[in-house]
Amino acid sequence: MPLVTTKEMFKKAYDGGYAIGAFNVNNMEIIQGITEAVDELKSPVILQVSKGARAYANHTYLVKLVEAAVIEHPDIPIALHLDHGDSFELCKSCIDGGFTSVMIDASSKPFEENIALTRQVVEYAHDKGVVVEAELGTLEGVEDEVKVEAGCASYTRPEEVEEFVDKTGCDSLAIAIGTSHGAYKFRPEQCTRNADGILVPPSLRFDVLEECIKRLPGFPIVLHGSSSVPREFVDMINTYGGNMPDAIGIPEDQLRKAAKLAVCKINIDSDIRLAMTGNIRKYFAEHPDHFDPRQYLKPARQAVKDMVARKIVNVLGSDHKI
Ligand code: G3H
Ligand code: 13P
Ligand code: ZN
Repeated sequence: MPLVTTKEMFKKAYDGGYAIGAFNVNNMEIIQGITEAVDELKSPVILQVSKGARAYANHTYLVKLVEAAVIEHPDIPIALHLDHGDSFELCKSCIDGGFTSVMIDASSKPFEENIALTRQVVEYAHDKGVVVEAELGTLEGVEDEVKVEAGCASYTRPEEVEEFVDKTGCDSLAIAIGTSHGAYKFRPEQCTRNADGILVPPSLRFDVLEECIKRLPGFPIVLHGSSSVPREFVDMINTYGGNMPDAIGIPEDQLRKAAKLAVCKINIDSDIRLAMTGNIRKYFAEHPDHFDPRQYLKPARQAVKDMVARKIVNVLGSDHKI
């Protein structure tokens, strides 16, 4: 089947109490790893491209690689989405260039400006059959060139969501309930220690999520910054020459709970980066004389596939939904 929008996948996910994984793609190995996993587990998927990914790999290369995945996996619904579009021009360029979904992220602007810019993108996108994700509230962490400092993030205000969705006509809404971008989502002092001495981060704000759901019944909610930063990959990186102390993510069981509610799209990027980096470091430590990229990228691609399969089962619940 050709690339799809997220319309039908979100409707089924909402009704079925599961979420669709949105994975950031930057190169062939990541696209192959993700799409092999979703094919084996019969899961729909969103492949998303950030402004930075586009600058790194080039729009045409990424679109053509995704088109190759569509040919190789004809039974899998695949949406191609712009992650964190920051201007009308960037969204327009992706809409005109083959994407089936775009995010306009004007969440750092005042409410009325966020509405106006989102509305402009929605009008252009809907005219071309493309869907739009918007955002209310801000997440901590680094996304593209924007770094939101600790303490400067703000939870979504549920009392604003109805007016925002009504006035913009957006198709899904990203909200801030305590997730954040990157591999350092919490400072150790924000966490408590469990009996095994492991740092446990504060809970996501399910009260904010539930209040948003009440005000937007049937409407798809999106969570950004939803990597779990699995201990095993942080340890692998640190064992083989890396230095990532205190990397902490969102516990998978909390994301699973959100996926059973109205959260239809869960964004995961850092976990894939950690799995690839850990495996590449391990490979070089064990094979110091190797220099063929096909050799060290092979276990990295397998690690992407295993990570996506793990997310489908532990977090998303999207397996066997095709
Ligand atoms: O939220 C941002 C994604 O993790 C993409 O990251 O801007 O480094 O491509 P990037
Ligand atoms: P992570 O950094 O938690 O993987 O979040 C990715 C994301 O939100 C992409 O938009
Ligand atoms: Zn994001």
